[in-house]
Amino acid sequence: MNACLRAVVRTALFRGAKVTGIAHGYLGLINGLFQELAASSVSNIIQRGGTFLKTARCQEFLSPGGRQMAAEQLRRAGIEGLIAIGGDGTFRGAHDLSEEHQVRVLGVPGTIDNDLYGTDYTIGYDTAVNVALEAIDRIRDTAASHDRIFFIEVMGRQAGFIALQAAIAGGAEQVLLPETPTSLEQVEEVLRAGEQRGKKSMIILVAEGEEQGGALEIARELGRRLPQLECRVCILGHIQRGGAPTANDRVLASKLGAAAVEALLAGESDKMVGEIGEALTLTPLPETWQKKKPLDADLLELASMLAT
Ligand code: F6P
Repeated sequence: MNACLRAVVRTALFRGAKVTGIAHGYLGLINGLFQELAASSVSNIIQRGGTFLKTARCQEFLSPGGRQMAAEQLRRAGIEGLIAIGGDGTFRGAHDLSEEHQVRVLGVPGTIDNDLYGTDYTIGYDTAVNVALEAIDRIRDTAASHDRIFFIEVMGRQAGFIALQAAIAGGAEQVLLPETPTSLEQVEEVLRAGEQRGKKSMIILVAEGEEQGGALEIARELGRRLPQLECRVCILGHIQRGGAPTANDRVLASKLGAAAVEALLAGESDKMVGEIGEALTLTPLPETWQKKKPLDADLLELASMLAT
């Protein structure tokens, strides 16, 4: 998100616009936590994870009263357009604000989950996958040395993008995804088959939001069914949301931040900038959460073929 903020600020200034940073997301918008940003305000942040403006989950913005206060703050500060970086929650709020108070808004997809329709990739996803992958590689050393089965849980809320990508890159024996429910019997079968083929260690990747429960519950149950196997669990959690962003994420964030400014200056509103193939695109905000971006079917097939 820092790389995106840098691109927004520098593009807007280059185009002759003034830029105001809003601290703590919608919470800061409601409370008028505004600060004017100069080119130097975004120096030395492209390599840092997170957002220097800070962010928050804001209940108040879910209510019409909260959005009314936000719109008043924007008017009072003379702000003519808002760029909101985030996921579907951020975009629902931005859309409501634009409908109810005619505020011009542009969305930039920023979530590690990659679950937004209208862009191939969201900012943060590539970094999260690479962090997960590094962890998987490290865990494999213990799994292999101790002959253990590891259940590794990755983030993604209700989406399996991180899990699928990390599973293929990390050579996982199986991946459990919310989009393609897997029964415990199927997992048991994979473990038994692996054991019969002489596998001493295995990695099962579990996406958060998987319908059998989290990695802990799944491992507990399979440990009961297959007591001869030594099972361990590792939940990667928020580790995946921090650290220096990958080059791909920094470039995507720079492109999308600049595109959001250009779109806003061109009079666009209530849309999300995205990149599909090589092209920069605009998608109406409601479509970004109403339409579903499917997992790549070829990748799904590849994951199961290579895991045998
Ligand atoms: O949406 C991004 C995400 O990191 C999800 O993958 C995860 O489920 C959620 O946020 C965690 O939210 P919080 O940091 O509020 O616990």
